[in-house]
Amino acid sequence: MALRKIISIEDELLRKHSREVQHFDSRLHRLLDDMAETMAAANGVGLAAPQVAVLRRAVVMDCGSGLIEMVNPQILSTEGEQEGPEGCLSVPGRRGLVKRPMKVRVRFQDRYGEWRELEGEELLARCIMHETDHLDGRMYVDIMTRELFDEDEEEDDPT
Ligand code: NI
Repeated sequence: MALRKIISIEDELLRKHSREVQHFDSRLHRLLDDMAETMAAANGVGLAAPQVAVLRRAVVMDCGSGLIEMVNPQILSTEGEQEGPEGCLSVPGRRGLVKRPMKVRVRFQDRYGEWRELEGEELLARCIMHETDHLDGRMYVDIMTRELFDEDEEEDDPT
């Protein structure tokens, strides 16, 4: 495993549409392993492949209940609404309040190509939406209600 460089919001790669993963091979596994290590080293709770300059539909997340890898994720349904603080490893030093669905159901492939489904609530729902947005070139700063500053009380969960 190796750490990859996380690109920042100024890089136009983050605005591109990522392509579907078609080969569930050792190259994909190395990418996912590197992403998990890079996310952990940066104390993040989520990381999408475009953030390490790979325009493929793959994300890793760890919102407190262990590592989740999602390849080719598709949002199946959303329910309710929540508003909470978000950050992004590609937008260092900034945070903002973002409205997201309270509950999200997502379908995705694992690293071997098997289809799975997952339902996420609260932080996990936010994380799923934030990371899948990255695959379509969307960033939380585009949709935040307002920017948060040091004087605002907040949790720390950069994705
Ligand atoms: Ni992010």
